[in-house]
Amino acid sequence: MSIGIIGLGYVGLPLAVAFAETGDDVVGLDVDPRKVEAIGAGESYVEDISSERLSTVRERITATTSYDDLAAVEAVLICVPTPLTANREPDLGPLRDAARRLAGVLRAGQLVVLESTTYPGTTREQLVPLLEESGLGAGRDFQLAFSPERVDPGRTDFTLRTTPKVVGGLTEACTDRAVALYERVCDHVVRVGTPEAAEMSKLLENIFRSVNIALVNELTILADRMGIDIWEVIDAAATKPYGFMRFDPGPGMGGHCLPVDPFYLSWRAREFDLTTEFIELAGRMNQQMPYHCVERIVRALNEAGKPVRGMRVVLLGVSYKAGVGDVRESPALKIATLLAERGARVAYHDPYVPELPSHDLRSAPFPEVLDGADAAVIVTAHPGMDWEQVVRRVPTVVDLRGVTRAIHADSVTRL
Ligand SMILES: NC(=O)c1ccc[n+]([C@@H]2O[C@H](COP(=O)([O-])OP(=O)(O)OC[C@H]3O[C@@H](n4cnc5c(N)ncnc54)[C@H](O)[C@@H]3O)[C@@H](O)[C@H]2O)c1
Repeated sequence: MSIGIIGLGYVGLPLAVAFAETGDDVVGLDVDPRKVEAIGAGESYVEDISSERLSTVRERITATTSYDDLAAVEAVLICVPTPLTANREPDLGPLRDAARRLAGVLRAGQLVVLESTTYPGTTREQLVPLLEESGLGAGRDFQLAFSPERVDPGRTDFTLRTTPKVVGGLTEACTDRAVALYERVCDHVVRVGTPEAAEMSKLLENIFRSVNIALVNELTILADRMGIDIWEVIDAAATKPYGFMRFDPGPGMGGHCLPVDPFYLSWRAREFDLTTEFIELAGRMNQQMPYHCVERIVRALNEAGKPVRGMRVVLLGVSYKAGVGDVRESPALKIATLLAERGARVAYHDPYVPELPSHDLRSAPFPEVLDGADAAVIVTAHPGMDWEQVVRRVPTVVDLRGVTRAIHADSVTRL
């Protein structure tokens, strides 16, 4: 088959590689010429795809910035960003732009699938009219479906192939086409009756995580006040073999998904006279976590007889999750800002993030970064980090991820 992919980021590039690995010809399109160049050179910028893996299928992937190159493909997958505006409302700008430009080259018989996370109704109400500017009818001349992407950057136990893929087409025939397409790269494809059901299923998954993370974070703040070790509590609760799912506390939510996607649904819900209380509450709770973490850092320094002002505070990990270099909405950024506002001299080490231009900082090498540190804060539990050395070398350690639990030292404060 020949498959076009619009948007070659965390979602689009792994899809491009997966289809190319099954022997399909892929046309990858991005508005960012640097990404197009990198793919042409066989250089991956997404951690889950090594440059070696990309290079082996480079012949089958044509990277381009021109929509004209999509005219000849059989199916087009749209994987562009769906961020929020400054007013925290859905920003469908990239999606509408991609759809409008695709309409300019759309041909009868093509299948279009939207993968970007969005509110229920987007495929039918936004994509259909834009794509029909081509003069072709959706569900009649071309097929259209929504299939949410479930990639979890950094995860190795489940892959694109082993993670079931949900598909909902505009018509039965649209679903059939999309199911057949994804069965090339996924072992299990799940049909739902409408694009709206597929759109909302993705939001349910993300809201489920957001709410549960907020719940455990709230209980963490309470446990701190009550002098109870929350990790011990969670370990104990997690021994229940049914009816409980473990979520660990942390410095807050980051990435493109959890801090953003739930608000697509709360925005849409207002049109139906409903305020989605759980979503709003979870968002508020998780946004508070960086403030709580800074309070814990200030307290830990105070216990060591030190003010914050003038102290060297080293953040270990600044990306939003372990094993990836994505700093979008990372709570580490807020923590760094709040510490700097209080006069701390902030430094950081993150093997995945060489620089933080927003804070005018560069990653310092490990373990040298620990030299002269008054406090080290474990913000992201990247694999391969030597936490014992951190505890040995730094007088005050604040662990926001629970990775030092096996290390017994009075100098360590855990969330
Ligand atoms: N990152 C994840 O873990 C993840 C997981 C599941 C779903 N999603 C969803 O998938 C979508 C894409 O997310 P991502 O993380 O891959 O984003 P990303 O920012 O990594 O990649 C998106 C790419 O689209 C390109 N782009 C922007 N506007 C474009 C346009 N008009 N035409 C062509 N290309 C354009 C950008 O240059 C970028 O390379 C979002 O809706 C996101 O919510 C992301």
